[in-house]
This record gives sequence, C-alpha cells and structure tokens, in this order.
Amino acid sequence: MQLPELAFSCALAGRGRIDPESFVRKRPATTRCAIEVPFRTVIPNFYKRTPMSEQKLLARRAIVTGAASGIGYGIAQRFLAEGAQVIITDIDHPQGMQAAAELGDECEFIHHDVSREDHWQKVFERAREKFSGLDILANVAGVTLMGTIEDLDVETWDKTMAINLRSCFLGCQGAIKLMKAAGGGSIINIASVSSFKPQAELVAYNASKAGVALMTKSIALHCARSGYGINVNSINPGVIQTAMLDKVISQVADGEALMASYRAMHPIGRIGQPQDIASMAVYLASQEASFITGSEFTVDGGLGIN
Ligand SMILES: NC(=O)c1ccc[n+]([C@@H]2O[C@H](COP(=O)([O-])OP(=O)(O)OC[C@H]3O[C@@H](n4cnc5c(N)ncnc54)[C@H](O)[C@@H]3O)[C@@H](O)[C@H]2O)c1
Repeated sequence: MQLPELAFSCALAGRGRIDPESFVRKRPATTRCAIEVPFRTVIPNFYKRTPMSEQKLLARRAIVTGAASGIGYGIAQRFLAEGAQVIITDIDHPQGMQAAAELGDECEFIHHDVSREDHWQKVFERAREKFSGLDILANVAGVTLMGTIEDLDVETWDKTMAINLRSCFLGCQGAIKLMKAAGGGSIINIASVSSFKPQAELVAYNASKAGVALMTKSIALHCARSGYGINVNSINPGVIQTAMLDKVISQVADGEALMASYRAMHPIGRIGQPQDIASMAVYLASQEASFITGSEFTVDGGLGIN
C-alpha cells in the first residue's frame, strides 16, 4: 500500500483519528504525501492533557453531538484536554460507547438521535442531573446525502434537514434554557463550506448547511439582545478526513478522482483533520472569544476562496 492510501485508510479505520506512532514509523523520510497529513496534527499534544494552569476550558460543562467519530470526536477530545467535562452523544451506540471509554472518566456517552426532540430532552435532563447546568454545546452530528434537484427524493431531503438543521434548532433551544440560568455559555454549530459554495449533487446538504449558518446568526442576535451572555457561532469546515468523507467517496462512481479533486481544491495543499476544526471549537468555547457572536469561521485551507 502506498503511503497516501495508508495514511488515509488509517484515518478512516480510526474514525478520523490517526495513530501517530504507527504513522510516523511507517513514513519514509523522503516521501511526500499526496494527502498531506501535517506532522503537527499527528504528533503533538492533542492526545495529552494541557497542564491545569493553562487549560482553556477548566471545569466547563459541555455537550458534543455526533462525537462517536470524526470531527465530533476530535472536538470532544480537545475539550477534555482543556479541562472540560463532556457528554458525548451519537446515534451510533456501540461506537459512542467505545469513544467514551477511550476518552476517559470525564466523558459520558448518551445514545441520541439529534433529529428527535424527545431524545434532546433526555440529553438535557442528564446534563442538568450530572452538571447542574451547561456551558458549551457543540452541534456536530450531520449527514451528507447526495443528489441533484432532479434525482433527490423528498424523504432524503427531509432526512437531511432533520439531522443537519432541525437538530441545531432543537439543540440551541434546549441549551439556551440551561445556559441562561447559569449566566451564559457558548454554542458552536458545525455548518460547512457547502453553506456558501454550491455543488449540484449536494442540493439538500447545501440548503441544510446554509440554514445552519444563518440560523446561528439569528439565534446569536436573540441571545445578545436578551442579555443572556450566550455566544453562538458556526464553523465552516473544508473537506475533513473523516468517515463522512469516506461515505461521500463511496457514493460516486470514481471516488479516487473525487478525492484528487478535493485535494486540489485546497490551496493550502492538503485536506483537513478533525483537530483543525477542534482548535477553532476550543477557541470559540473559551473566554478568549467572549466578544464574538453571530460569526462564521471558515476553517478550510483556503477552499472557500479558491
Ligand atoms: N468531513 C467533512 O469533510 C465535513 C466538511 C464540512 C462539514 N462537515 C460537517 O461536520 C460534521 C461532522 O462530520 P464528520 O465528517 O465528522 O462525519 P462523521 O460521519 O465522521 O461523524 C458524524 C457523526 O454523526 C453521527 N450521526 C449521524 N446521524 C445522526 C443522528 N441522527 N443523530 C445523532 N448522531 C448522528 C454519526 O453516527 C457520526 O458519528 C457534520 O455536521 C458535517 O456535515 C464535515
């Protein structure tokens, strides 16, 4: 297996995570990766706890949805490293349980379909019970279901809207109740570069993510005017190396060609890693971002300007 394929399949098999040791050992010093996996992403302190005196989220109470894998897992991992207590949720029960076991004692998993209001109620009840409040919500769970305006059926449209958009509406609604009682908080919604850059075969995904981005601003405005101290922002990832990307690749006839085109679309020379998004999420969840609300943060290696 060539190194690029190795690196990529490692990441997919590990649900968006790379084992730094095995990757570093196998990488010949002279080989340049076609999928440019940055060493600063795979080697560093992301797997270690930040010293307590430097932790940006010390004792903060967080919920991260869609955290059994990919970007959600990466965000939960960084929140924990920065001193937060984290409830992770996901519809994938076995993988969610495994993720929580890997992430350690400060992390608990709740089985959760983000499109369902009754499931959200249970998640917030548990947050009330466990944390007596909530400081951070990261709405990460999402799906990419492909189809153009001519071939997408209405069930797929509705499913996309329910999982990607209704989920954020329900999450924000419940989180605001808990956060305003505690005097503030931070909500981070994961949108996408696809919220402003259309692709013909992503009609439902484009619409759902554009909805997330604008809904975030509307909610931010409401919270700011109400004096709740709740900041609400969204992140637009570029193409990130996760299981979701694998699914997209498997749904098209020539997946390799699509991957190559994704790589070429990022002027910075690589696709992203979950930790690239997690770094922004930590910042937005921290006190350093206290003057930021209703903003979109594009973390995409330049994809959006290409
Ligand atoms: N990977 C990318 O290139 C990319 C780019 C832009 C935006 N995003 C967004 O980032 C978010 C995370 O994507 P990812 O790449 O980590 O994907 P992923 O598939 O690795 O993770 C998504 C997680 O969401 C969970 N999920 C799916 N439906 C759910 C539901 N109904 N309820 C609860 N959980 C559910 C899945 O089980 C999975 O664990 C998504 O919102 C996605 O749209 C991803």
